[in-house]
Amino acid sequence: MCGIVGYIGHREAYPLIIKGLKRLEYRGYDSAGVVLYDGTDLKLSKTKGKVSDLEERAVKEISLNGSIGIGHTRWATHGVPNDVNSHPHLSNSGNLVIVHNGIIENYEPLKKELIKRGYVFKSDTDTEVLINLIEDVQKKDNLKLGKAVQVALNQVVGAYAICVFDKQKPDEIVVARLGSPLAIGLGKDEFFIASDASPFIEYTSNAIYLEDEEMAIVRLNKPMKVRKIKDDSLVDPYVQELQMNLEQIEKGGYDHFMMKEIYEQPNVIRDTYRGRLHANEGIVRMAGVEDNIEKFTNAQRILIIACGTSWHAGLVAEYIFEEFARIPVEVEYASEFRYRNPIISDKDVVIAISQSGETADTLAAIKLAKEKGAFVFGVCNVVGSSISRESHAGAYTHAGPEIGVASTKAFTTQITVLTMIALRLAKIKGTLSNSEYHRYLLELETIPEKVKEALETNEISKQIASVYKDAPNCLYLGRGYNFPVALEGALKLKEISYIHAEGYPAAEMKHGPIALIDEQMPVVVIAPKQGHYDKVVSNIQEIKSRSGKIIAVVTKGDEQVRALADHVIEIPETSDALSPLLTTIPLQLLSYHIAVMRGCNVDQPRNLAKSVTVE
Ligand code: AGP
Ligand code: GLU
Repeated sequence: MCGIVGYIGHREAYPLIIKGLKRLEYRGYDSAGVVLYDGTDLKLSKTKGKVSDLEERAVKEISLNGSIGIGHTRWATHGVPNDVNSHPHLSNSGNLVIVHNGIIENYEPLKKELIKRGYVFKSDTDTEVLINLIEDVQKKDNLKLGKAVQVALNQVVGAYAICVFDKQKPDEIVVARLGSPLAIGLGKDEFFIASDASPFIEYTSNAIYLEDEEMAIVRLNKPMKVRKIKDDSLVDPYVQELQMNLEQIEKGGYDHFMMKEIYEQPNVIRDTYRGRLHANEGIVRMAGVEDNIEKFTNAQRILIIACGTSWHAGLVAEYIFEEFARIPVEVEYASEFRYRNPIISDKDVVIAISQSGETADTLAAIKLAKEKGAFVFGVCNVVGSSISRESHAGAYTHAGPEIGVASTKAFTTQITVLTMIALRLAKIKGTLSNSEYHRYLLELETIPEKVKEALETNEISKQIASVYKDAPNCLYLGRGYNFPVALEGALKLKEISYIHAEGYPAAEMKHGPIALIDEQMPVVVIAPKQGHYDKVVSNIQEIKSRSGKIIAVVTKGDEQVRALADHVIEIPETSDALSPLLTTIPLQLLSYHIAVMRGCNVDQPRNLAKSVTVE
């Protein structure tokens, strides 16, 4: 995720771009930059930090006049946040300039080829490769910018929303999108370009949202044409009359960031395995793992340390690593680990999981583990965060900024990364048969569509929420892979609705909690077909016989549990190991709707912070 703002028209571009970038900072910022064309040359300023840092720097560095310009707030994926890696990026000639939102998966082979042809690179980004690929194509075939962009993009694998400008032809901006959003505001003798409509909604409510694999040349005094990147065919774009206000635009039309982020999960799970998982070829590869593969394959134990939802993802990973790779795993609360004088050896691999990458307890725990000789691998969502820098190596989730305090897309993308690591290790160690290995790779690629289907349970989750929104307590039960999901579901409910909720292994009921069951106690039971199903059905019968109210998450078509439960939420079938990626969805939706119905502050619940950077 990042923010893009472009302008070409009769106004001064700079103030409009800066104001627009500030409105897009919710999309993530670790650095920001702007380029203006003042009639003679390109003026570019960029910096690590916020848009306000850019403002302070730009006014000192460049003249701010010009009615054509492009700005960017970065959410890094390749290359740590610093001045050089910030956007915009210039081509080697200095004639072309680009801003980019997304990931160029095949940037490494493209970069190698360009280096052979004499191109030099200042940054570590994938984006700088793209602008030099466009320049190379333009020069080689003597093409106009639009054509050069089109030819270059047909060589690219990945996701992008881009704005490209050529100072040799300074009356147009070329835009294109695949996988990342790009809107074009249509003004009177002026065009606005942005990641969403918030930067231009006050100037025009007429907008075109490019579709995937579409591009356009935005040119003054000329009607804008939209084309298909693949075959140059013309597209008849749909011009929308926007009705949303600023706040609604930032939240993607949802009432809360949490709901927006719940619905982003199909895309961000796909972004997280993009370029890393090639199921048909039987390949799963992440650089951080490959570069340290011996550490993993020789590990006597994997120690997972984390807090909160990330700790729950670690519990899911414990089941996955032990089943797939047959490596013993222990999962520790970072806050306990750091004060326990833990027994660590250099044969241990420590995996630190953290969405923010700034959680104080987790950071302290990995420093301790390193002091004791362990190899530390970070799974973070923020490039360049403290935990990612403190770890010896790592793999990022590509969930984009998670604004809602209640973690949702971070959980599912963490599990996605951890599953890919476990599958890679299983392949090397031969602890999964080839057919099982391939089956899991192929199944993992179906998860985004299945999550999308699971999201269709929103209405039924809302209806169930209306029944139990005033319950004083709630129990969540699951077995095996879904025991951590029961814990996670309970955490979601308590942290945003303030209802006391507890997660338990379903079999643990008879060791005490069953005393709590009566007609006042809603019990969420996670009962997918794959995974101890018959045992969970027995637990459901135990609850029913004590008048407990049963909300069951089941595999589509399940009739047996339907006959027992008070409410049933159906999700698509998947393998036991991958089921947490789906069973968690209705629990996220249920907690969200209960919190909304209780009038709670869903995105900023009382007493909580998004990142607990203190002990
Ligand atoms: C989860 O919904 C909470 N927001 C909280 O438990 C969170 O998961 C925990 O603080 C860990 O944060 P981190 O992943 O950024 O380290
Ligand atoms: N992959 C590009 C980079 O890391 C763009 C990231 C973004 O979307 O902000 O610079």
